[in-house]
Amino acid sequence: MAKTTYTCRECGGTNAKWLGQCPHCKAWNTLDETVAEPAGHTRNGRFQALARSQPVATLSEIAAADVARTPTGQEELDRVLGGGIVEGAVVLIGGDPGIGKSTLLLQAVDALSAQMKVLYVTGEESGAQIALRAHRLGLAGTRVRVLAEIQLEKIAAAIEAEAPDFCVIDSIQTVYSEQLTSAPGSVAQVRECAAQLTRLAKTRGCAVVLVGHVTKEGALAGPRVLEHIVDTVLYFEGDTHSSFRLVRAIKNRFGAVNEIGVFAMTERGLKGVSNPSAIFLSTHGEPVPGSCVLVTLEGTRPLLVEIQALVDSGGPSPRRLSVGLDRDRLAMLLAVLHRHAGVSCMDQDVFVNAVGGVRIAEPAADLAVLLAIHGSLRGRALPRGFIAYGEVGLAGEVRPAPRGQERLREAAKLGFSVAVVPRANAPKKPIEGLTVHAVDRIEEAIEAVRGLA
Ligand code: TYD
Ligand code: MG
Repeated sequence: MAKTTYTCRECGGTNAKWLGQCPHCKAWNTLDETVAEPAGHTRNGRFQALARSQPVATLSEIAAADVARTPTGQEELDRVLGGGIVEGAVVLIGGDPGIGKSTLLLQAVDALSAQMKVLYVTGEESGAQIALRAHRLGLAGTRVRVLAEIQLEKIAAAIEAEAPDFCVIDSIQTVYSEQLTSAPGSVAQVRECAAQLTRLAKTRGCAVVLVGHVTKEGALAGPRVLEHIVDTVLYFEGDTHSSFRLVRAIKNRFGAVNEIGVFAMTERGLKGVSNPSAIFLSTHGEPVPGSCVLVTLEGTRPLLVEIQALVDSGGPSPRRLSVGLDRDRLAMLLAVLHRHAGVSCMDQDVFVNAVGGVRIAEPAADLAVLLAIHGSLRGRALPRGFIAYGEVGLAGEVRPAPRGQERLREAAKLGFSVAVVPRANAPKKPIEGLTVHAVDRIEEAIEAVRGLA
């Protein structure tokens, strides 16, 4: 067994034993177990394969070669990957258990097996279970090679022997290296195993997909550190109770970030949804108070998402809860609503939810959130066919959202007829079927809505 040492996450200092406090920078609880490297040759050896000595060159003289991509056969997955799998790229796919990571990858691996050598390493399920899933997905006669193994050294040997072009590790949390004593899934193991696999990917030119589970807090169990090691980070979103799943690119060295792929979980696996703009709307017979539809722009495509709010009398310390939206931002918006529009939710519980399990990070959701809250508080529904978007600032101003016209056109296409938007987003030419109210301030927006009801 290789010697282990403990390395501080903050300062990189090392110590032979684990300590609660780093002896170098005095930070607490920052020592992780790592493989000790014999001074000198090993570290050099590790990097030699990566960077065969290259001369220093002038940037303008280097030919800008675009990377070659192999489409996975899943259009929505290719969209988030930036066009397909890149040789030697390392992709991390995170998500809640049961959301469909293994299903999506098995489908992708099967499609890729027609054009390249693929290896599916499973540490969570047996070969028989994978076979059962493949059967369910209708992948008879698939050429996917499967290895049920959790020991890193054996996996590495299998990759050397099989020489795949594409390899899936399902999941990184089950893999352990013999060189470390800590349990599989611990930060040290996950980090070391991911680093070894990344090295293997780069030296062999084999694309590697690491599956990672997400803990309750939303961080990948233990290692956010993985995000730095890999080339692309994808996260699954969505409510396991609904059939829709989003795959979002958080980081991508080979494509755009914040691009999303939309899938529907069916009896026969995940199917791409090519026109997803209306899937996050719930259907109300009559407009209900506390609901406002938002046009959000995710990656290249606009999505219509219903924001729901419930304001109800609370106790001495009222609760503010949000699902799919940022809670701190909600607290800020409530303060803006109070100060600038004179609408107080001081002694009220406030709950907001983005329908369908979608997570919305863009501030353009502010206006819809505030109008939904206001509607719930007053018990008044917004008119039928109403949409809103726009960022709300601390001074009560409504700021424009990027690509506002596109959002309005998408809403009009789906039959929405009234919009309240930031002044700078008001269309130059009227959009057919859509009445647009442009506002500068939050109180104007509330006034405009009152005039509509
Ligand atoms: P899975 O891919 O095992 O999730 P993960 O690897 O992210 O933990 O997904 C399992 C869920 O998907 C499970 O609840 C069953 C469902 N499912 C379908 O609805 N249809 C299918 O064809 C398959 C294979 C799974
Ligand atoms: Mg799985």
